[in-house]
Amino acid sequence: MKQSFERILITAALPYANGYLHLGHLAGAYLPADIYARYQRLKKRDVLFLCGSDEHGVAITVSAEKEKSTPQAIIDRYHPANKSAFEAFEMSFDNYSRTSIPLHHETTKEFFREFHSREIVVAKKELQLYCDKDKMFLADRYVEGTCPKCKSTQARGDQCENCGTWLNQTDLIDPKCKLCGTTPVVRETTHWYFPLGRYQDRLMAYIDERNKRDGWKDNVLRYCESWFKDGLQDRAVTRDLSWGVQVPVAGYEDKVIYVWFDAVLGYISSAKEWAIAKNKPDAWKEFWQKESTKYVAFIGKDNVVFHCIVFPAMLLAWNDAHTEHYVLPENVPANEFLNFEGQKFSKSRGWGIDVQDFLKYFPADMLRYALAVNLPETRDSDFYLKDFQARVNNELADIVGNFVNRTVAFIDKNFDGKVPLMGKRTAPDEEMIEILKQTPVKTGELFEQYRFREGLMEVMNLARSANKYFNDHEPWKTLKSNPERCATTLHIAIQTVRSLSILLEPVTPEFSANIWKLLNLSSTTDEREWDSATQLVLREGHQLQKPEILIHKIDDKQIDEIVKFLEGGEQIPASVPLAPLKPTITIDDFKKIDLRVARVIEAVKVPKSEKLIKLQIEFGNERRQVVAGIAKHYTPEELVGKTIVVVANLQPAKLMGLESQGMILAASDESGHLTLVGLQSEIMTGSTVK
Ligand code: MF3
Ligand code: ZN
Repeated sequence: MKQSFERILITAALPYANGYLHLGHLAGAYLPADIYARYQRLKKRDVLFLCGSDEHGVAITVSAEKEKSTPQAIIDRYHPANKSAFEAFEMSFDNYSRTSIPLHHETTKEFFREFHSREIVVAKKELQLYCDKDKMFLADRYVEGTCPKCKSTQARGDQCENCGTWLNQTDLIDPKCKLCGTTPVVRETTHWYFPLGRYQDRLMAYIDERNKRDGWKDNVLRYCESWFKDGLQDRAVTRDLSWGVQVPVAGYEDKVIYVWFDAVLGYISSAKEWAIAKNKPDAWKEFWQKESTKYVAFIGKDNVVFHCIVFPAMLLAWNDAHTEHYVLPENVPANEFLNFEGQKFSKSRGWGIDVQDFLKYFPADMLRYALAVNLPETRDSDFYLKDFQARVNNELADIVGNFVNRTVAFIDKNFDGKVPLMGKRTAPDEEMIEILKQTPVKTGELFEQYRFREGLMEVMNLARSANKYFNDHEPWKTLKSNPERCATTLHIAIQTVRSLSILLEPVTPEFSANIWKLLNLSSTTDEREWDSATQLVLREGHQLQKPEILIHKIDDKQIDEIVKFLEGGEQIPASVPLAPLKPTITIDDFKKIDLRVARVIEAVKVPKSEKLIKLQIEFGNERRQVVAGIAKHYTPEELVGKTIVVVANLQPAKLMGLESQGMILAASDESGHLTLVGLQSEIMTGSTVK
């Protein structure tokens, strides 16, 4: 049963403002959401597309401690950075908010007060982990231990990243304080609990109904089923922290609301902020509180429980006592993860590439295209720079770019740049027109089902067919032998160019707008509507612009440049030429350098890099990761067990995204030949070198 909706509310998970966005984020939630939003706008539907920064919780405070900064400074750095990275990536949000604004604190408190006054949330005394050394309760990421479910040793207090389980911190096996590493004690404290279990039956019915109506993804359904199978539990929705939305209950002002409980409400605050900016402060209700709204929440797979269970439960609880009902998600399309060059993106290990860095090298459309054809919709997928180059060159440039260019150039040269007349059509002409009619319908259906890869494939097939049509009809021959035939071929070809411009907009908006300009159409007065892509809209005789290459191929040098950037560019210690001696220093200058004897425990080549080896070294009771540019001179095997000398107090640096916490001493001759500095006889690691 298909419902007919009057408007579409689209949200994309609010990223934490504690680090820069990387390509994995884009492929998870953001690009699919943007393709969907742009497609729906071309369908002339009333769309509200929202996002914002998630600025509370331990993700932020831990980052602040790591960077020796404050939570406020952290969010003030990353919120604007991520907002502009999204802009550079051409995300078409109607509003990008942040959860630290008073409007959002108010929204969250309103929900909490409501649940408090109706005694839905209740206070309970509970044992919680407390660190005697740091004098604090260890909320969420402040404690790590072994996951009771999958036995991963890096489960956090609230969630195991490995298996996705949402944990109670006291379930952790062998918990350790994240700040000082000691084993915490248990202490009693009071928290407010939300009775998720009470909503289980209704949540199951809700998901079942929406799945029947809109077809939920298998991965999402499977996650939910396993939650239901285990039985939903009461959950603490407050924390003993000072950063977050203050609990609005007298006597509990020293506690804050759990970050997930506030973050999901950020979607509502973002709508309110949008409405205020539009000078229609109530307009958000049109989207959030009308049954005729279709609400779609795009997320990555690690957010499923919060969007399919916790958030709907909160909304159901609210709706029970109000006549204005919030809409629940019609669907929650969650993607799997994207890997980078064969490994998981990892902020802590510094593996991956940030969006704004990547976009310094390549236009957003190229990245959007390469990610879209490879979205992790049903399973994890991989991003390789070589693939990226091949996709852009062999598909975007060779198939679409080439077709657009040859058609416009041919008309420019032989028809004065005017849309040629359509003459008598042959069977192959009709076939081509039929493909043109079918593609928007097929792609549209796939996009409606959140199958963006396949939808894009249909568009690319249209471009492939069009190239073949052009080749088969050899207009360069019929130009003389049968001018009417030639004109007809080009007429159909240029109509296809127009359709491609529309059909590609969700994925490559700038490229698509540039095609539109080549067609000498305006973005404001000429109709740009998805359904018109099925038709032959361009008028005969319509004047086109001069041809222009819109997609420039990526050459190997450009790929090498970004690889070099990933390797840390000039930071790699390479050869020291026999140059004049440096200025004299004092003994005190020299003493600033802490040189230590260390031993190599592990060594692996850094993938994609010719020079780098990643080493785990040990000195005394310290263990560190060092990335060294020695792969041309040593194999990882011969390094393991070697005694070396390192600069132990060098400021950490990132090489190819990997953190290097020291520098190995090596001698280097004029030709760049390198040999590690060793020792004449055995000595304990950790010993100083002076
Ligand atoms: N900040 C969370 C993350 O990055 C996502 C929050 S989505 C929201 O995993 F709905 F809670 F906002
Ligand atoms: Zn686990």
